[in-house]
Amino acid sequence: MYRIRSFEEYQAQYRRSVAEPEAFWGDVAASYLWKKPWHQVLEWNFREPDVRWFTGGSLNITENCLDRHLETRGDQTALIWEPNEPGDQPEFISYRELHRRVCRYANVLKQQGVGKGDRVCIYMPMIPDLAVAVLACARIGAIHSVVFAGFSAQSLADRINDAGAKAVLCSDGLCRGNKEIPVKAVVDEALEHCSTVQYVIMSRRTYWPVAMKAGRDILLDEALNTVGDDCPAEAMDSEDLLFILYTSGSTGKPKGVVHTCGGYMVYAGYTFQNVFQYEDGDVFFCTADIGWITGHSYIVYGPLLNGATSVMFEGIPTHPDPGRFWQIIDKYRVNQFYTAPTAIRSLMTFGDEHVLSYNLHSLKLLGTVGEPINEEAWHWYHTHVGKGRCPVVDTWWQTETGGILLSGLGGLSPMKPAHAGLPLPGVQPVLLSPEGTELTEPEAEGLLCMKAPWPSIIRSTYGDHERCRQTYFSAFPGYYFTGDGAKRDADGMYRIIGRVDDVINVSGHRLGTAEIENAINQHPSVAESAVVGFPHPIKGQGIYAYVITRGIIENEEDIKSGIIECINSAIGKIARPDKIQLVSGLPKTRSGKIMRRILRKIAEGETDNLGDTSTLLDPAVVDALIAGRL
Ligand code: WT7
Repeated sequence: MYRIRSFEEYQAQYRRSVAEPEAFWGDVAASYLWKKPWHQVLEWNFREPDVRWFTGGSLNITENCLDRHLETRGDQTALIWEPNEPGDQPEFISYRELHRRVCRYANVLKQQGVGKGDRVCIYMPMIPDLAVAVLACARIGAIHSVVFAGFSAQSLADRINDAGAKAVLCSDGLCRGNKEIPVKAVVDEALEHCSTVQYVIMSRRTYWPVAMKAGRDILLDEALNTVGDDCPAEAMDSEDLLFILYTSGSTGKPKGVVHTCGGYMVYAGYTFQNVFQYEDGDVFFCTADIGWITGHSYIVYGPLLNGATSVMFEGIPTHPDPGRFWQIIDKYRVNQFYTAPTAIRSLMTFGDEHVLSYNLHSLKLLGTVGEPINEEAWHWYHTHVGKGRCPVVDTWWQTETGGILLSGLGGLSPMKPAHAGLPLPGVQPVLLSPEGTELTEPEAEGLLCMKAPWPSIIRSTYGDHERCRQTYFSAFPGYYFTGDGAKRDADGMYRIIGRVDDVINVSGHRLGTAEIENAINQHPSVAESAVVGFPHPIKGQGIYAYVITRGIIENEEDIKSGIIECINSAIGKIARPDKIQLVSGLPKTRSGKIMRRILRKIAEGETDNLGDTSTLLDPAVVDALIAGRL
């Protein structure tokens, strides 16, 4: 009933979702399994903010992902796991088997005293145990906080401490492409700075030797031998926390975005089905890592809620060669393929022959996510991967939105390169002027905000509700502010321009410039730094760091590699700058504020047109920056 099958149906659902949101979402939610029905579909205000969906209802998302399918599709493959090396053995995990593994893992957690409301940090490569661990937490009502296994020990420690995690679930090591990471050793290092963690449960992946701390560290395989297959699903209130996921903002440390059980489930399931137009028996492949929201919603929860077969890939697009994605599509007869523009741009540079060597006839739909897609990449994707016959859905959303908000519905909606398109049912976007006035003309450009809640909207930032209010609900009272600028065309289709705050998007990874500056400033020879993004042909944005050093600098290269070391250890390799320029001054106003606009222009090479520089304390700084530009 809630599967949209035509554009007219979309329009009808959209109208109803705005006119009577409670009736609409109540009907959508009714297609799930509830332990107890809700008494109120929606209560909300954006002032505090306080948003509650399906209040009074009780459920367990894993019953909807697993138990519900056992009778009808117990033997169907739920997850196809493709390892890093193409020659290694894949795994086909049926719904029955996944259910069993989740229950057993959940029993291991219970045995260690982990239960409802406890926070559990998961730091693992893309192996089946990662998906199992996520679902095992949800099974017993523990709140998972997955940390991408490319983050450094320090950022892992920050996230563990912020959430007050009781346990860490990890692997011994990981191989991604040619790179190896000693995962367990990183956890050990992080835990030197964490006091709340009582247990570490480790899966075997690489079989590298690791240190095990008695009384704290547990080998999963051994623990599994001591538990049974039965694990009743904990009854969760709709608004109980399901997970925390950390994401960067323009200020301070990353914040823990909070999602709750009922609304997240309803929206992840609904959007998966309709955006990707998934049909029973299809094979869906999302290339994200489960460490990001895309992996949470569209590798694990969305597909499993729909009884789908979802591919989970451990490796990277270019290993052992740039045909890896196409080979996987060919091998598993993938029907829907969902990836990031940065991957498309990177694979394009290797020419068409890799795409041509594989049979991609199974594809019915292509999707992109994470950053704006340029028209050239869109056309290459559409023509060479989709052979001109697969619709492309450009899905715009955020960690905070839990699921896709703006996107075409595969094949049903009009498509326009580089445009995310129309809002999903229940989503009410508006464009605001900087003063906060709604731009009501059809064609407009402004700040993208939402004027009503959808079921999986962020509920809070963990441990600091005020920060949630400040960040998303205070700039324009009465609206959720996305941080993005966007354009709307005469047909109501949205095109995302990019972030309007000090957040940069590097290869689809979101990083705060302040976070990178803090890492750089840890270097003893650094006095001050300023980081900006600049357009990068493959990554979307590159990182440009201007650094003022102190003392006598004998070797610039040593300083630069020292700075990179600081960033690697404070954040991780994903935040490595593309350019580091050592400078003697930064463009500041008389009140001491750095004029980032000028730094961005210089990084872009737009040095002829710096705009108004009359408020600068020392305009000569600018000439020196331009002269030394990399
Ligand atoms: C930011 C959110 C949930 C998606 C993964 C990233 C940018 C996301 C698009 C798109 C243009 C996009 C926005 C957004 N973004 N999708 N289709 N077109 N920009 O999640 O790390 O929370 O980042 O990614 O700037 O605010 P995230």
